[in-house]
Amino acid sequence: MSVPFITQVKRTHNCGQLTAADVGKQVVLFGWVQNRRDHGGAVFIDLRDREGLTQVVFEPDIDAEAHGQAGALRLEFCIGIQGTVASRGANINPKMKTGEIEVRATALTIFNRSEPVPFPIEDAVDTTEEKRLAFRYLDLRRRPLQAMLTQRSRVNTLTRQYLVDTGFLELETPFLGRYTPGGARNFLVPSRTNPGKFYALAESPQLYKQLFMVGGFDRYFQIVKCFRDEGVRVDRQPEFTQVDLEMSFVAQEDVFGVVEGLLQKVWKEVLGVEVKTPFRRLPFDESMRRFGNDKPDMRFGLEHVELTQLVKARGPDGGVPMLWEAVEQGGMVKAMVLPAAQALSRAESDKLEEFAKGSGARGLARAKLGESGEWTQSPLSKTISAELRVAINQACGAKPGDLLLFQFGREALVQTVMANLRVHLAKKLGLIPEVGSGGRWEFLWVVDPPLFEWDEESRRWVAAHHAFTRPHDEDLPFLKTEPGRVKCHRYDVVLNGFEIGGGSIRLHDPKVQSEVFSALGIPEAEAREKFGFLLDALKFGAPPHGGIALGMDRLVMLATGADSLRDVIPFPKTKTGADLMTGAPGDVDPSQLEELHVRIVHPPKG
Ligand code: AMO
Repeated sequence: MSVPFITQVKRTHNCGQLTAADVGKQVVLFGWVQNRRDHGGAVFIDLRDREGLTQVVFEPDIDAEAHGQAGALRLEFCIGIQGTVASRGANINPKMKTGEIEVRATALTIFNRSEPVPFPIEDAVDTTEEKRLAFRYLDLRRRPLQAMLTQRSRVNTLTRQYLVDTGFLELETPFLGRYTPGGARNFLVPSRTNPGKFYALAESPQLYKQLFMVGGFDRYFQIVKCFRDEGVRVDRQPEFTQVDLEMSFVAQEDVFGVVEGLLQKVWKEVLGVEVKTPFRRLPFDESMRRFGNDKPDMRFGLEHVELTQLVKARGPDGGVPMLWEAVEQGGMVKAMVLPAAQALSRAESDKLEEFAKGSGARGLARAKLGESGEWTQSPLSKTISAELRVAINQACGAKPGDLLLFQFGREALVQTVMANLRVHLAKKLGLIPEVGSGGRWEFLWVVDPPLFEWDEESRRWVAAHHAFTRPHDEDLPFLKTEPGRVKCHRYDVVLNGFEIGGGSIRLHDPKVQSEVFSALGIPEAEAREKFGFLLDALKFGAPPHGGIALGMDRLVMLATGADSLRDVIPFPKTKTGADLMTGAPGDVDPSQLEELHVRIVHPPKG
């Protein structure tokens, strides 16, 4: 007898729901065939939906017609069943949520057959990521992805709830905006109705959210897509999501309070983890000195020791020309101590050198400390003066058996190599607790960075973040004299070595604003051309304001222990920015280009 599934016979439960308490009930389940076992008389399947698996059994004695149909079932067929919940008796499967029961099917319908799938829909598959991305809709059926995206949905909901409960309004801002220079590289969108003109896809709602503050909409938030035409990495996608917020009449600490409360709530409700607030505050300069970057992973030590001053003080008498030259040319010298207990074999330390070279280093100078602090296994040991050696040992707190690792040269390179080395070593030595085993959550704020950075290429100061960040009041006198000394109210929230959010208190005072532009060497007319609308807006009683944006994808990646953003984004892009499933970005018809008044100049071949 055919059962009118869907139209009249509705789903009663999901596939992860039934327990011994339901035995005897009549139920209707919909889902996909995870596996099928034909035991002579009986056909068993596990039926899957996003909540779990339920064993369904078809037997001629229960229903001959359903049993007959079940012979045709294959993996990934989409079906509906009706039946009675029965105990599995002695055959309980403790690994399954529904392992106490099975459903004895009295009716079956096949909604849709499936071709053989290109890879098994199982937790662990060894299929290449390329293939999985090309068939992402099948990959999405796998439990690990379903679990991560379900967590993502919860984080979204909790975020909304928390922000609405704390008085924020959810408002939208345009994706199609005007191109403004600085910041991230924008995707440009030609306008058919405005020949030769382009929109920029919003890299963030930054300017609009500031205009909301001018417009009187204190406490705005948005969970919003942002677009940046930049290289894709493990923690970077061209299209990603921010939890973006802005508040009026606030100081830095007020913004921190909102974010700490939000992250505390999310960690508690999603992971059951109690996160302590306030988070630790770490000045930018200290972060650079101790860890080599502004997003340090605080779950382990291996801190850097800066030796520049020490080498400088000894001058050429230190006996190591390479170190001295690096310092004399304005460079930096840093070391890191690998304790004796973590001893590396010769081959391992050679591999470490290869890793350092991969980060751009020319090499990795090393020295092992002997019983009385002498350096062994090191070319440096031949020439270094006893005085400099003792001073370095002391500065590093190094003991016999420890290995010293050195980098020296251009500051930016030394910092990058040493920062990468620190994390690489920690992973290698197993110093980082796995998320699966409870994990450790080291949240911190990196605060008080410089307002400007020196750009070697253009040989001028450029805004380190954006030109509307408020400088520290006490540093205002340096705007004209020593721009490099000016610190600002910019802050990043960092978790386990990833920047999960960044923001600032904005510069709402037009007078200081024009001083910042002149420090940046931007003439008034140019500033007007670039940011005229914001400059105008600030003149009409703009309130003091500030805000932050959290990277939602990064947040979920870390909370779920995923290896890459691609695992927490339903339809992500590859390293080259491609969508392997749809083939985006793709060619378009010449007639479309004509309509847009755009001509393609192909790059030269080879
Ligand atoms: P920022 O550029 O620091 O600040 O971005 C905020 C946070 O967004 C995340 N993020 C990314 N995540 C994935 N892929 C990317 N390509 C990517 N780029 C950034 C990071 C980062 O911390 N308008 C300012 C915020 C403000 O000042 O209020 C902004 O966009 O986690």
